[in-house]
Amino acid sequence: MKIPLMNINVQYERLKGSIDKKMVEIAGAGSFVLGKDTKNLEEAICRFCGVKFALGVASGTDALILALTALGVKEGDEVITTPFTFVATAEAISRVGARPVFVDIDPVTYNIDPAKVKEAVTSRTKAIIPVHLYGNPCDMDAITGIAHEHRLRVIEDSAQAIGAKYSTRNIGSMGDAGCLSFYPSKNLGAFGDGGMVITSDKGLADAVALLRVHGTTSKYRHSIIGFNSRLDNLQAAILSIKLDSLNGWTERRREIADRYNSLLKDVITVPREQEKGRHVYHLYVARVEGGRRDRLLNFLNENGVESRVYYPVPLHLQECYKELGYREGDLPEAESAAQETLALPLFPEMDEGQVNVVIDTVKKGVRSVS
Ligand SMILES: Cc1ncc(COP(=O)(O)O)c(C=O)c1O
Repeated sequence: MKIPLMNINVQYERLKGSIDKKMVEIAGAGSFVLGKDTKNLEEAICRFCGVKFALGVASGTDALILALTALGVKEGDEVITTPFTFVATAEAISRVGARPVFVDIDPVTYNIDPAKVKEAVTSRTKAIIPVHLYGNPCDMDAITGIAHEHRLRVIEDSAQAIGAKYSTRNIGSMGDAGCLSFYPSKNLGAFGDGGMVITSDKGLADAVALLRVHGTTSKYRHSIIGFNSRLDNLQAAILSIKLDSLNGWTERRREIADRYNSLLKDVITVPREQEKGRHVYHLYVARVEGGRRDRLLNFLNENGVESRVYYPVPLHLQECYKELGYREGDLPEAESAAQETLALPLFPEMDEGQVNVVIDTVKKGVRSVS
């Protein structure tokens, strides 16, 4: 049987007793949206991430849109971000009417390069969205330093990085806001869509709280034009149950990654943890240079090890962004990462046998494509 890239079903099998019990309880109680269970999860996430406020919303994408809106980012503004991320990061910037300004990445961590961020600041720049890609923290000292110098807002796209740390601080707690995704395949995944804005800024938290419920101040009274973007109780309750296991799952992810790193480092370019960072390995993404990536990808998939490319086309070259005028060659590090990287199976419930099969198959694959 093929070793999958990730396996979200085993989590449910292991927690089935408590999850099923809770689902039946909520179905009977008849309170489904933004209720007690959402509040409990928000409080638990505040403790987990070291922030004062957490607001459950409908998705990680909405978390970004609401955070940008609450910070007043709008048409005519520029927001600096990475081109090497899931499209939602830039989509959120475009959705509030602002212009994404893509800058190149660090070729080692695949995260936004702070030196390039600095060069891209203009009088229209309002914010920076660093993405802790694959769970590896960005260089937050450098990024928050640039933000302070130019009075810019920082929204940490932490969709892939819950539980990661930079120095002693939690990912999502260093910018003005952090945005989490609870999409099912994430390290903390719901049974559908879900997201959260985390912050320690009361004004920002109040603004997001208002925006997510149609700008409602009291029943049928609306002070601003808002959104319908709320977290369901059912999802929140499932997430609360899973949150108790998250630290253990992360440790196991790191253990598997360490094993891959030490046994594959002479064969492929293994991921490098950000200095001062604690990577949570949402994805284990390695690199093979010399035009061999697609052949290795095929070899692995044909030999029982699922492998996938995240992300084959960087955002500055996507059709939806053609009006921004970027050309091939503009952001070379992101472009070569898109051509040379591939993800290997990594999920907490992998057993030693599966880990060994992945290692052996990668070694065989690299020999066969070299
Ligand atoms: C980096 C990044 N940002 C934002 C998102 C959007 O999250 P969601 O799918 O919950 O809307 C994702 C999720 O895939 C992501 O990986």
